[in-house]
Amino acid sequence: MKNEGNNIYSVFDEILPKEEKEKMLNQKAKVLWLTGLSGSGKTAIAKVLEKKLHHQGFFTQLLDGDNVRAGINNNLGFSEQDRTENIRRIAEVSKLFINCGVITINCFVSPTEKIRGVAKAIIGQENFIEIFVNTPLEVCESRDTKGLYAKARKGEVKNFTGISAPFESPENPIIVVKTENQTVEESANFVLALVLPIIKA
Ligand code: ADX
Repeated sequence: MKNEGNNIYSVFDEILPKEEKEKMLNQKAKVLWLTGLSGSGKTAIAKVLEKKLHHQGFFTQLLDGDNVRAGINNNLGFSEQDRTENIRRIAEVSKLFINCGVITINCFVSPTEKIRGVAKAIIGQENFIEIFVNTPLEVCESRDTKGLYAKARKGEVKNFTGISAPFESPENPIIVVKTENQTVEESANFVLALVLPIIKA
């Protein structure tokens, strides 16, 4: 299927450059990539962060696992292969957003170095801001906001990250946020302060 017939003529070099769009939006387009266990607080932090950025005049787009899996990736499950495809498509979509100058806030478990490496390679290291939402498994499990940990323990959800599928902590994240003893607001403020110098024009 890949480049079927080889009749693909890319026009990337003829498209208005990202820099022109960034100038118009007065910001640097980056992908803020939140990785962490289910229930670690990725989406909760991202929602608050996005509102704060919006109020400061930044132009953003939030992408989240449950939403993306209900739409563009609704044919994918949680095998290693499907998770990789999930992240590959998300990374390609994110690349389109940053080419439009948009700050993209991504909330995906993205559980392994290999999978995050796929995203990093597509997006480009300089545009990939890895943020580890470091919440211990016990805390995520006790929160169990979606009731999925209970189901996973009973074997009703297969390949569940942290229970029956692996989660590898990122080796060199740019930002680490520990949510255990913080409110969502505090975590979002912590991330905001570190992100502002990276995205300011
Ligand atoms: S990823 O591993 O491919 O990056 P993604 O972030 O898109 O995962 O989706 C994770 C979300 O899907 C979780 O927050 C949870 O709500 C739901 N989910 C359902 N089944 C699983 C599973 N087996 N493992 C992890 N998350 C699951």
